[in-house]
Amino acid sequence: MTNAQVTRELSNGTAIPVVGLGVWQISDGAECERAVTAALEVGYRLIDTAQAYRNETSVGRAIRSSGVPREEIFLTTKFYPGGKDARVEAEKSLERLGTEYLDLYLIHWPQGGPTWAWPGMEAAVEGNLTKGIGISNFGADEVRELAKVAQIQPVVNQIQFSPFEYRRGLVETCEDAGIVAQAYSPLGTGRHLDHPAIAKLAESTGRTPAQVLIRWAMQKGLSVIPKSVHQARIEENFNVFDFELDDDAMASLDALDTTGSTSDALSKSGKWWS
Ligand SMILES: NC(=O)c1ccc[n+]([C@@H]2O[C@H](COP(=O)([O-])OP(=O)(O)OC[C@H]3O[C@@H](n4cnc5c(N)ncnc54)[C@H](OP(=O)(O)O)[C@@H]3O)[C@@H](O)[C@H]2O)c1
Repeated sequence: MTNAQVTRELSNGTAIPVVGLGVWQISDGAECERAVTAALEVGYRLIDTAQAYRNETSVGRAIRSSGVPREEIFLTTKFYPGGKDARVEAEKSLERLGTEYLDLYLIHWPQGGPTWAWPGMEAAVEGNLTKGIGISNFGADEVRELAKVAQIQPVVNQIQFSPFEYRRGLVETCEDAGIVAQAYSPLGTGRHLDHPAIAKLAESTGRTPAQVLIRWAMQKGLSVIPKSVHQARIEENFNVFDFELDDDAMASLDALDTTGSTSDALSKSGKWWS
């Protein structure tokens, strides 16, 4: 089995790779194309973009020129909830991406409440624009509220998750609802890489700080989407399938949590919508 084939099954029957490339804050154009191209060459088969990232065109171009068959790639984009109709916006994403379908379409954050956009998301599935639909930045209460009204259930909740933001309550709620949690900002957008506890574990395992953080989230059962624009780091972040953190290492990382095992998606001050 190649690393790209290490996946988690989603409730709609598709399989999501356990490690993917995130492309937030990568400029549209050559930089984004280079990063996606490098990732596909290394063996990544999951790319995570969003309407708000404004780089879907470059993601699509890199996918098409990679030579990797489209059906071997798991492509995610996200509905920008400042928009009105998720289905209409999915069509525009597909045009920018230059592809026929998405594998996963997420509501980027629950602006305006957790349910209003869902009928448009379901219409995107019914129109064969996407195989699966899901959510991002939804806390436990929002997950439950949506589950009550959804005709098609969300398959993924993409959340901020790292040893320092170990949202154990939220991950458990997702699992109970049949939703796979996916870890964004697994490196703390770079902030966690220099933490002494991470450096110490990196040294004792003979791995890098990024590999320790990615591996921890994988062993918690999440799909993980680190971002880098550097080829060597893109490769490093994918070389996480040939080692395991032992129980002591996992426990010492668990202990770094600053959220109190929260079931919230974000701290109150971290909410960027009203
Ligand atoms: N749903 C949401 O609301 C949401 C929010 C945030 C993020 N996300 C998704 O999650 C992805 C990842 O999160 P993120 O972008 O916040 O950051 P991240 O993956 O936690 O960290 C990325 C940062 O770490 C650096 N880095 C990456 N690999 C490294 C390595 N091996 N060694 C040293 N430095 C390394 C990168 O620098 P270089 O690029 O210079 O290498 C960048 O500054 C995003 O791209 C996006 O797809 C989603």
